[in-house]
Amino acid sequence: MKDSSIGIGLLGLGTVGTGVYKLLQENASQIFQRIGKRLEIKRILELDQKKALALEIQPEVLTKNIDEILNDPDIQIVIELLGGIEPARTYIREALYQGKHVVTANKDVVAAYGKELFEAATAGKADFYFEASVGGGIPVIHTLKENLAANKIEEVIGIVNGTTNYILSRMSEENVDFSTVLQAAQEAGYAEADPAADIEGDDAARKIAILASIAFNTRVTPANVFVQGITRITPKDINYAQELGYVIKLLAIARDHNGKIEVRVHPAFLPQHHPLAAVHGVFNAIYICGNAVGETMFYGKGAGQMPTASAVVGDLMEIVRNLESGSTGRFPCGCYLDKPILPIGKVHTKYYLRLIVKDKPGVMAGIAGVLGDHQVSIASVIQKRTLIANNEKRAEIVLITHQVLEQDMQDALAVIKGLPIVGSVENVIRVEGEPRT
Ligand code: HSE
Repeated sequence: MKDSSIGIGLLGLGTVGTGVYKLLQENASQIFQRIGKRLEIKRILELDQKKALALEIQPEVLTKNIDEILNDPDIQIVIELLGGIEPARTYIREALYQGKHVVTANKDVVAAYGKELFEAATAGKADFYFEASVGGGIPVIHTLKENLAANKIEEVIGIVNGTTNYILSRMSEENVDFSTVLQAAQEAGYAEADPAADIEGDDAARKIAILASIAFNTRVTPANVFVQGITRITPKDINYAQELGYVIKLLAIARDHNGKIEVRVHPAFLPQHHPLAAVHGVFNAIYICGNAVGETMFYGKGAGQMPTASAVVGDLMEIVRNLESGSTGRFPCGCYLDKPILPIGKVHTKYYLRLIVKDKPGVMAGIAGVLGDHQVSIASVIQKRTLIANNEKRAEIVLITHQVLEQDMQDALAVIKGLPIVGSVENVIRVEGEPRT
């Protein structure tokens, strides 16, 4: 084996950057045995010297100037771990144009700017790898690009946000409301101080945009994804779900309907027997159906220092192998098709509805009539309890529909909300994961 080294520029020594540095040290001999090269971090773009001191990194390795990395001919691979859009986007693009291979964990940049970054990679004849951008340590991007490449991918459904899965899991286990669990999760460090991107579904939208682009060979950006977060889920909905044989999960769903792409993120009822229903706490999982392989599922830690570092260093080692075998550029942009994205109104799904209605004769018939007028067929109904509001008897009704066109359901709901017999539409949640009818 040749004992020469590959020069690396590391952008960012935050949580994941530190993990990458530690992993390269801790597993150095095994990594060397596997790829026959030593990986040398020649420069680190980091303003905070304390982070470097903690890792006993020589001060001269640190720089505040990106040009010292971009213009260094001894740096062949750049690892971008700054996070956020800028300056990460510009640095990645410039590195690729200059022929430096890039590894990133940055889902925001990959999801929104994948096209321009792949164009830069092609121009610079460079590799661009981003396994860690979705599902942390779970190997799903390589799996889609390589191991499942023989398949027509029909469906990708992910639990790709650990924060929301943790919150929904605890709400189910402890019968507590959303804001109580969110606060506890923040105090325990499981949720960000500003949890908006997680709880509103935007983090999951970026990840499913990346997965859908790869699975269906067409560019899907976060702007194409219908997004709804979990803030309106209540313990009552979770209890009804359990009673009806479901769990509630924040799902990221992408499907190819004969060349038209459906892509959405929202909370959903999922049958308790579905493989994704068993994914609890901060864990992530991605369920993929291909026409040859059938159902598959990939499970693991979707975030965290060392799981994410595992994916980053794996990419790094693959680029080194490509360099050694003269096969860089094996994975150019895979979005060679231009498939239309279905508007959410054109998507078919089932629904759970929870309504408070007046408890008197003809109420159920009135609601069923509106649904029927809009081609919405009811699969099951539960009338749960009677309560008194404004000196009137009220009942809580839960309905599950058959599969309907989203637009028909929204039109029906608009009418139902205005019916004098209806006190309130308490919640509307899509039902997923059952055989399509
Ligand atoms: N905030 C994300 C999550 C991890 O909760 O899963 C980073 O993508």
